[in-house]
Amino acid sequence: MDFDHPPPDPLPVFRTWLEEAGALDLPNPNAMTLATADADGRPSARTVLLKGLDARGAVFYSNSRSRKGRELAANPRAALLFHWDALARQIRIEGSVTQVSDEESDAYYASRPRESRLGAWASDQSQPVDARKTLLARLDEARERFAGADVPRPPHWHGYRLAFERIEFWEGRDFRIHDRVVYEREGDAWRTMRLFP
Ligand SMILES: Cc1cc2nc3c(=O)[nH]c(=O)nc-3n(C[C@H](O)[C@H](O)[C@H](O)COP(=O)(O)O)c2cc1C
Repeated sequence: MDFDHPPPDPLPVFRTWLEEAGALDLPNPNAMTLATADADGRPSARTVLLKGLDARGAVFYSNSRSRKGRELAANPRAALLFHWDALARQIRIEGSVTQVSDEESDAYYASRPRESRLGAWASDQSQPVDARKTLLARLDEARERFAGADVPRPPHWHGYRLAFERIEFWEGRDFRIHDRVVYEREGDAWRTMRLFP
């Protein structure tokens, strides 16, 4: 990335940085922090995995009844953050979140291991649970319920797509004289700005 002359489209840079993180021997190079806020603007953050990326945005999957799901329903604006320490790189993304199509969620769900699909039925994500054994009992119930059959996608489990409105690339340099470039949507094009570190 030439920070003085950033390419007009941030997507190829994003892909290259992801690929370079993926080439290192790191667990979950596609892990990103997802920040949401409730209707009163109170923020919360957690890690999710990037499962799709194209010009429409970045896709992750979750339970729509979870805290993040409820916050996104009340306030669809969110931010994503990648940090690859081994590469001294960070990507910050902001935008609006929508639900992906049922077909897209079904296709991803079908690619998950059966136990993970059962887990999506067993877990009331973000709700209190008294003990691990309760969770395991719920998993057993799901196993019995779908014994010998396909495990369908729960209607409350689906993909979310964050459409890019702002993307910032940061690369660490010696003595904190880092490089930063931010892309902001301007209609169909992008406006770029270099920022002081
Ligand atoms: C490396 C890592 C990857 C994760 N990936 C996901 C994910 O893709 N989807 C998800 O719902 N939760 C994922 N989680 C769990 C979330 O961080 C979080 O605990 C959960 O979604 C509940 O968050 P909430 O109560 O704010 O909704 C992941 C956690 C870690 C540490």
